[in-house]
Amino acid sequence: MKRLAILTSGGDAPGMNAAIRAAVRLASSRGIEPIGVMHGYQGLLNDDTVVLNPRSVSNTVQRGGTILKTSRCSEFESEAGRERAKKTLERRNIDGLIVIGGNGTLTGAIELGRIWRGQIIGLPGTIDNDLAGSDFTIGYDTAVTTALYGIDRIRDTAESHERVFLIEVMGRHAGFIALDVAIAGGAEEVLLPEVKTGFNELADRLMAGIARGKGSSIVIVAEGYDSGGAEAVAERLRSQRGLESRVLVLGHLQRGGSPTAADRLLGTELGAYAVDLFIGGTTGVMAGKVNGRLVATPLVEAVSLKKPLNRYMLSIMDALAS
Ligand code: F6P
Repeated sequence: MKRLAILTSGGDAPGMNAAIRAAVRLASSRGIEPIGVMHGYQGLLNDDTVVLNPRSVSNTVQRGGTILKTSRCSEFESEAGRERAKKTLERRNIDGLIVIGGNGTLTGAIELGRIWRGQIIGLPGTIDNDLAGSDFTIGYDTAVTTALYGIDRIRDTAESHERVFLIEVMGRHAGFIALDVAIAGGAEEVLLPEVKTGFNELADRLMAGIARGKGSSIVIVAEGYDSGGAEAVAERLRSQRGLESRVLVLGHLQRGGSPTAADRLLGTELGAYAVDLFIGGTTGVMAGKVNGRLVATPLVEAVSLKKPLNRYMLSIMDALAS
């Protein structure tokens, strides 16, 4: 019987459990033994594995986080660490490995693939949506939805006090979450790593809005916009323009919670597809969905090609906020 291991690594993302569940159940139904690797790559280093079966993943499709746990494993970044990981895979007679995570996780998978003979299939599991080879990553839709709950609530208090609010959202070096929540949340401004709006431009527009009679303004700040984040922007608005504002950093809140239907479905579809790719003998690819179709993209392309922001949405942002 072939053995297919599954791990989740890096930041958790809602919908990872749906992917694990689908992979475990599909593998079992095709006569493959699913093995869970606990705590991401750390579990490969420590030989921390568990045999899974369809019952192990009962009642998980609606749960956020990852039942396999996760970690950021610096030891795995070294050659010696990866050699240890390879030894575990060999000792446990693993034929294939499904790796669910973001850019760093899939980069680690590429390195492992250089020294281990088994098949490696990646799945895009990150709230950041910053992987090429899939229009959306597992967890992104939930993170955007969760951020919106917060923004809608802030709008009420911002409107009552006629205040400017700066809301910082996650996304690491990418502005996908920021742009989508800005549009869907009706924000006046968005600060993105990809666009680099200047401080004066932002301040002028906010002041002009106030002069036009805007009661409140919401500015979405992507965490990758600049190193000081939303706090630094607020401080400059106060010291250079005399404009008081309030700051809210949504932070890890965006990673938790029950996955949306879209993330459960994407996780399920890609988890199952990863098993089919394994059965078909494929290796070194990421399973994704582009234009409604399942696609397998080489891992090197998934981590290195730049996925563009929605330029059309970006171009209408000003008009929408006027
Ligand atoms: O990659 C997911 C993510 O949540 C990023 O948006 C964020 O920059 C980072 O992880 C935070 O990492 P940590 O959980 O290690 O603080």
